[in-house]
Amino acid sequence: MIITFIGHGYVGLVTACVFADLGNTVYVIGRNQDKLKRLSSGDPIIFEPGLQELLKKNLAKKTIHFTTDYSVSIPKSDIVFIAVGTPPNEDGSANTTTVYSVAELIGKHLKKGYTIVSCKSTVPIGTNRKIKKIIDTVKNKDAYIDVVSCPEFLREGTALQDTFTPDRIVIGSDSKKAINILLDLHKPLEGKRVIVGLESAEIIKYASNSLLAAKISFANLISFYCEETGADVLEVLEGVGLDRRIGHRFLQPGIGYGGSCFPKDVKALITMGDALSLDTTFLKAIEKINRDAQTRFISKIKKYVPKGKIALWGLSFKPNTDDVRDSPAFNIINALLYDGYTIQAYDPEAYKNAKRIYKKNKNITFLSSPYDTLNEANGLVICTEWNEFKQIDLQQVKKILKKPIILDGRNIYEPKKMKIRGFTYLSVGRNSV
Ligand code: UDX
Repeated sequence: MIITFIGHGYVGLVTACVFADLGNTVYVIGRNQDKLKRLSSGDPIIFEPGLQELLKKNLAKKTIHFTTDYSVSIPKSDIVFIAVGTPPNEDGSANTTTVYSVAELIGKHLKKGYTIVSCKSTVPIGTNRKIKKIIDTVKNKDAYIDVVSCPEFLREGTALQDTFTPDRIVIGSDSKKAINILLDLHKPLEGKRVIVGLESAEIIKYASNSLLAAKISFANLISFYCEETGADVLEVLEGVGLDRRIGHRFLQPGIGYGGSCFPKDVKALITMGDALSLDTTFLKAIEKINRDAQTRFISKIKKYVPKGKIALWGLSFKPNTDDVRDSPAFNIINALLYDGYTIQAYDPEAYKNAKRIYKKNKNITFLSSPYDTLNEANGLVICTEWNEFKQIDLQQVKKILKKPIILDGRNIYEPKKMKIRGFTYLSVGRNSV
């Protein structure tokens, strides 16, 4: 098939490369010439394991092309995927401006015949129907379309694996013809097919992300109980998760969820619920506990680490990505800077993105080795569970740190062993000093 993707972020670029690799001819439309040039030369711009190799492979096979020009591919495409961002508005609702402006451009470039327009962006309920209306208003009379909501569930860091072997493929549409074409396109991929209506597909995405965020907040809430009572949260959640109805996944307590999806999608579901006059207390509690997890961690740092230099490892919102959007680490950093600490930070991939954000602040420096951050530091704070930190030479860490204090926001070390090594070690939901 001939497919166009509008947008080359995590969702657009990864899915485009996967469909190109499966033998389709794929066009990717963007707005920024510089970025398109980089993409055309094999640089995926974002850090995602395996993506560069897949991009280069398909550029060489000429199955993927990048352009700013809608007229190059829209008229000949079987399917046009919308994969642009829907960032939060000030009130927390999803901003659909780009989705609608892109829909209008698609409509204006359709010449004749049948095209499927499929929305992969996470959009509020009713958006897909509005996309159809916009396109129907501006399109040529010889062109006709069906709209399909095809939400994406890929995680950063495992995006290729999630796209090649998804748990499920959700296809939402009123049109049997469009559903069958989408089923055909996804034929080589694993995963259960979920064929639903447009609105159901839209809600599935928000419900999935909010439930995962709820699991994390629940684990964090239980960690507060453990801290107050002397229980060990990992023991508790091991016991809880063994119930097959519950499971262990997404029950990892820490300094809360971040990233480009959970924070914005929970917020958007709240605004949708408020607009429908529904009780959104449950969703608001998910957010509140996420904030509390960070506040409690910040209090621990301030209590145990004397003012002065402090080392901080991990800037991305989770490991294996350079994405720092809504990273919990930034809330920790901002609170420490406000309190007068001087931060020496390290992250294997995200330091460049973080450096850009703090470039005007002299009280935070970004170093290229985790050990360098420890020089003259009164303590070490860990915000992201990169494997590199799990395998670090702790003897060396203790030797360089001015005070052997570690505040671990992701529970990567064993409290008893840390005590034997002579550290003052504080983690989440496990009492040990
Ligand atoms: C998420 C969804 O998983 C994915 O399906 C959707 O398409 C996009 O949003 P992503 O944001 O890439 O993916 O990351 P994910 O692995 O889900 O983690 C999100 C956040 O939750 C991270 O900050 C992570 O550190 C945190 N998290 C995750 C926990 O704090 N505890 C856990 O047990 C799991």
